[in-house]
Amino acid sequence: MASRGGFGSSTSRNGHLPLFVFGFVLLVCYQAEAATKKYQFDVQVNNVSRLCHAKPIVTINGRFPGPTIYAREGDRVIINVSNHAQYNMSIHWHGLKQYANGWADGPAYITQCPIQTGSSYVYDFNVTGQRGTLWWHAHILWLRATVYGAIVILPPQQTAYPFPKPDNEQVLVFGEWWHGDVEEIVKQGNAMGLPPNMSDAHTINGKPGPLFPCSEKHTFAMEVEAGKRYLLRIANEALNDELFFAIAGHNMTVVEIDAVYTKPFTTSAILIAPGQTTNVLVHANSAPGRYFMAVRPFQDVPIPVDNKTATAILQYKGVPDTVLPSLPQLPSPNDTAFALSYNNKLRSLNSRNFPANVPLKVDRNLFLTVGLGKSECPSCINGTRLSASLNNITFVMPQTGLLQAHYSNMKDVFTLDFPDKPPRPFNYTGAPFTANLFTSHGTRLSKIAFNSTVELVIQDTNLLSVESHPFHLHGYNFFVVGTGIGNFDPAKDPSKYNLVDPPERNTVGVPTGGWSAIRFRADNPGVWFFHCHLELHTGWGLKTAFVVEDGPEKNQAVRPPPKDLPPC
Ligand code: C2O
Repeated sequence: MASRGGFGSSTSRNGHLPLFVFGFVLLVCYQAEAATKKYQFDVQVNNVSRLCHAKPIVTINGRFPGPTIYAREGDRVIINVSNHAQYNMSIHWHGLKQYANGWADGPAYITQCPIQTGSSYVYDFNVTGQRGTLWWHAHILWLRATVYGAIVILPPQQTAYPFPKPDNEQVLVFGEWWHGDVEEIVKQGNAMGLPPNMSDAHTINGKPGPLFPCSEKHTFAMEVEAGKRYLLRIANEALNDELFFAIAGHNMTVVEIDAVYTKPFTTSAILIAPGQTTNVLVHANSAPGRYFMAVRPFQDVPIPVDNKTATAILQYKGVPDTVLPSLPQLPSPNDTAFALSYNNKLRSLNSRNFPANVPLKVDRNLFLTVGLGKSECPSCINGTRLSASLNNITFVMPQTGLLQAHYSNMKDVFTLDFPDKPPRPFNYTGAPFTANLFTSHGTRLSKIAFNSTVELVIQDTNLLSVESHPFHLHGYNFFVVGTGIGNFDPAKDPSKYNLVDPPERNTVGVPTGGWSAIRFRADNPGVWFFHCHLELHTGWGLKTAFVVEDGPEKNQAVRPPPKDLPPC
């Protein structure tokens, strides 16, 4: 909460006093403390060894995982990315809203063309109205397998967390590691029309832990002092796996997801999908010892998954390394009940300072079905390749950044005819369905009126197989107002929505064979990517984008592009 320190040490820049005194204190605080944080990101290739093999990987500044970005709410962040690697690439600041500033969002061919080898591009953005943990990653090919890191957004100075102040904090990023060159593995998979080989390990802060060979040096350990409280800033930066996480001998209190505070609740394990972040408080109040922290996938359909457990160690100060750590009890890999009940416990804090401004009236209803499918491929092993679609459309990546095309009114780059509902309704989650649903290919987007309220229902289907899908919307947070198993019923389900304190986030896990309903106000003009955050599915075309029109005011229009925007 704002204190007098912030109040006394600052002046109001715009000269008029907001009426609401409390808002005034917050505003002044924000203005007093706003700073500019600068980072240099050198994209470079380095040799890194894991699981007894060394291989060249793309890194930022030679670090794996990459550096953590630290900012306070209200800060401006300037990151100069210089690309010295052989891949053209771009970086996405996942979860940052980038108001009217899609130029700093980063998905390749959506908001910019990639930064070419030997070139640089500056991502320049403000961190406004968000606080907590987010993350960043390469947003082209599968380069995010090694190019990723955390973003820590601290509250403004003199502003406290809405939970007991932790004695210390620790970032924990989960990832996946392959023995081989990931881009080569993906190429091979694509050539055969099959999923690429799955990863060989999961990692915690880049390290697989002692259940894997050659991991003595590759185990992350966190030292704690008995009696103290710790804030763990957790991000799932894996490519294809939803993960359970637990700590032996310790419960966790969830206090924030996707940089939004939640109503605290205590749990023995968390579930986190690729793209999501979760902050938990941990009280080091167990018998001093060594405890494993462990991650392992959640997968409740018979689709193969890298089911290996990565571990790190929570180590009480003064306990010798010779003490054998105990393993936590993780939910079993197919524990659907745990997954549903965990997600049901997530609620926005919805306090006076942090209200949940859920849109109560909907201007535009969208209904999107998720489909997996096969398309013809004579050179592929089965004569077909796997693909994916939304409302039967497999998204085709353009050659030009869509935001550039939108901003400068280029024709022939995309069409604005993405359907608001599937062309042919069917029993989405009935018996497995393999018939040709006349899937088409195209760069088809939806146009959304500025400031309109949108409800988007994402419906999983049994085309080839049901599966859970973490959907991520760029440029926005949304409220997850409802979720269910089976087919969404527009007559009955909306009456069960939570419109009071639904979780607010940027990535929602649509349950296996079920649906999720999300709402947001389209107040951020630009072109915003919407996709499954399983890299496998994104690559197969499980994506689209929204063109949110400019508003009537000058500051409600997409900003002019920066001078150094990479050419296509
Ligand atoms: Cu974290 Cu478009 O992604």
